[in-house]
Amino acid sequence: MSEVYNERIDKIISAMGLMSRKDCSRAARNGRITVNGTVTKFADIKITNNDVLCLDGEQIIYSKYMYVLLNKPEGYVCAAEDGRYPTVFELLPKNYLNLGLFTVGRLDMNTTGVLIITNDGELSHKLLSPKNKVIKTYRAITKFPVSEEDIRVAAQGMQLDDGETARPAEITAVDDHTYDIKVFEGKFHLIKRIFLALHNQVRELERIDFAGIDCQDLEKGEWRFLEEQEINVLKEAVTR
Ligand code: URA
Repeated sequence: MSEVYNERIDKIISAMGLMSRKDCSRAARNGRITVNGTVTKFADIKITNNDVLCLDGEQIIYSKYMYVLLNKPEGYVCAAEDGRYPTVFELLPKNYLNLGLFTVGRLDMNTTGVLIITNDGELSHKLLSPKNKVIKTYRAITKFPVSEEDIRVAAQGMQLDDGETARPAEITAVDDHTYDIKVFEGKFHLIKRIFLALHNQVRELERIDFAGIDCQDLEKGEWRFLEEQEINVLKEAVTR
């Protein structure tokens, strides 16, 4: 989940918004901090990824960059704050709110599935850049069956109802109301607009793959850190 680091304990704990550096020094003096199971009275010592840091017996997971994979449930918005609806960040532990995390792109409130949340701005920017043509696959349940002709039209790139153009998209039938659609760009409401332009309607939408990452092991609303190998998959997706 993390980049390699070698960082002071008080910096780690304060960067996570758990307490100030001063309070951290006090906590250490009071025996509340352990490294690899041993109490340390000094909060200014440096530790690495390989050390297990605990405050009051709770392990503190820290990295310069965090990469979280969420299986987004319906009813949550991809925004830092929203006056009306719960945000996807409310599904993460509270102390993660201070880490500068954001979603890599957005899913609509009623769209479910793969959502990556990180504080790695550079990687996020690359994943969203149209020039990298990062592949996203959605599973759509549609109102009507999709014809072979519709599939051909989408595969050639098509005009959307508001005049904007969608780049070629690959539609594969799962059954006569369920379709996987692979796109190489990230326009607002893209999938719903493609089906609308095909005189159809999306009833349910799930993102089943983002740049080679899926979340089949997670229930809706569950999250986990991306594994090192998965972070590499994302990095490779933007260097091809
Ligand atoms: N396309 C949509 O229409 N909605 C999403 O949430 C993502 C892609």
